[in-house]
Amino acid sequence: MPKQENDKLRSHDWFGKEGKDGFLYRSWIKNQGYPAHQFKGKPVIGICNTWSEVTPCNGHFRELAQVVKNGVYEAGGFPLEFPVMSLGETLIRPTAMLYRNLASMSVEESIRGNPFDAIVLLTGCDKTTPSLVMGAASCDLPTIVIPGGPMLNGRFQGKVIGSGTDTWRFADDLKTGKMTPEEFEEAESCMSRSIGHCSTMGTASTMAVMVEALGLTLPGASAIPAADSRKRVLAHMSGMRAVEMAKEKMNISQVLTREAFENAIMMNAAVGGSTNLVLHLLAIAGRIGVDLSLEDFDKIGSKMPFLLNLMPSGKYLMEDFYYAGGLPAVIKEMAQFLNNDAITVNGKSLVDNSKGAKIWNDDVIASSENPILREGGIAVVKGNLCENGAVIKPSAASPHLMQHKGKAVVFETIEDYHARIDDPNLEIDETSVMVLKNVGPKGYPGMPEVGNMQLPKKLLEKGITDMVRISDARMSGTAYGTVFLHASPESAVGGNLGLVQNGDEIEVDVPNRKVHLHVTDEELAERRKNWKPLDLGYDRGYTQLYINTVMQADKGADLDFLVGKSGHEVKRESH
Ligand code: FES
Ligand code: MG
Repeated sequence: MPKQENDKLRSHDWFGKEGKDGFLYRSWIKNQGYPAHQFKGKPVIGICNTWSEVTPCNGHFRELAQVVKNGVYEAGGFPLEFPVMSLGETLIRPTAMLYRNLASMSVEESIRGNPFDAIVLLTGCDKTTPSLVMGAASCDLPTIVIPGGPMLNGRFQGKVIGSGTDTWRFADDLKTGKMTPEEFEEAESCMSRSIGHCSTMGTASTMAVMVEALGLTLPGASAIPAADSRKRVLAHMSGMRAVEMAKEKMNISQVLTREAFENAIMMNAAVGGSTNLVLHLLAIAGRIGVDLSLEDFDKIGSKMPFLLNLMPSGKYLMEDFYYAGGLPAVIKEMAQFLNNDAITVNGKSLVDNSKGAKIWNDDVIASSENPILREGGIAVVKGNLCENGAVIKPSAASPHLMQHKGKAVVFETIEDYHARIDDPNLEIDETSVMVLKNVGPKGYPGMPEVGNMQLPKKLLEKGITDMVRISDARMSGTAYGTVFLHASPESAVGGNLGLVQNGDEIEVDVPNRKVHLHVTDEELAERRKNWKPLDLGYDRGYTQLYINTVMQADKGADLDFLVGKSGHEVKRESH
């Protein structure tokens, strides 16, 4: 066999091999109709596809992958598309978060085991982004991300409606009779009327912003709607760039530096992104080996201006954000804070890439001189109720509840909450602090998005719209309220959250970053003697592995044995 053109490519160790092994690698690839010249000596670009009909947000990815291939071919590469475990938020039970780490394993091993020189990640729905980036980080090949894009604005009864955010509102309205069941059903098709992920600044949009801010996408990628033809242009260009990155051997670790993580935290504050960012960014940092702590989110993010007027904190949606200038316009406003030495996949910094950006609608994107809030971001609070921390998103909370003292109304499980919340005899008023236990990583298991518990019907009817809520759960990025989340250690491992009783006094003080349970240490020690973890009844399979090895929320809830990276070398042959 003649020596191939570029024997430095990783894929050459497969397709350029002599003898029996080379025969096996080449012959079976040829059965798909590729002539030898199409892949011989060319950079092989793996397109990691999360297309799935049970991940509706990524339902357009078969077509999108085809567009990426066009770009790869144009640049002289050879694309090979492969499926990985895909997680859709809306259908999967008990929660997609339970499987984020499992999906990341499928990504990591699929990348490492195959003859790829660079990777394109197609991401969309909430967990598809972190799981793919985590898996890719553990392999450390050149990697570029294409966020699949948000849906077009929802429209219902003459008004713009946003994914998730308006669902919570409609559910309240249905409960109190402000909306009929027929209207409720009609709103379903009005909310999700195009391809793409949630249209609000929920977790999917937050993740798209995160990958762009980390430098993993081409400039401007995150806000382009899925249905906009410019998303396909971006996919084509990303395919082309992946080929160059393969030749340059620009591994993902060159992009994912500590400075890049700091940029992602700052940009998350600027756009008012989801609290879920904390878990995913910590997990990605753990994989790539960058030292990042829960406290960093507060230290780096909470002094940053909040600039983006999008639901759930504000008024507009991702489509409006794109027309108003998209992320480059926000990056330009944030230039004074961002690290300029972090490079993005095109070799330039975020700020350098955004020099020509402009704000086209300052009601959507505010300037840094005149921000929506001087201090956005995520606050990390601590106290005897969450010794390793809990988080809250002040921009989605009520100012009058940021310093508050009230009596605890405790729900032992989410089922207990559902059974009693609308009981007219439940002793609760607007000054109460709602506490939900056993919804953390191990306790549920999988840390579901139930932290934004709906208020009791009798208080909704009184016109109450927000109350203090505390739990070890997560909250959907599309949700809002004075909600303390990710309490660590969680109740299921014996955290003090598990010891709270009805009527205990709880004090929250966000400006001073404190959450305190007014119960003495002696009393807590006494209660601990009678505390028992719930028996969840899992004794096999992935769920048991998860429960045994998942880390707490303040560490990103990755499985402990997945922390770190093994690189992309495979020492042994397959035949
Ligand atoms: Fe997929 Fe919201 S449900 S992004
Ligand atoms: Mg979500």
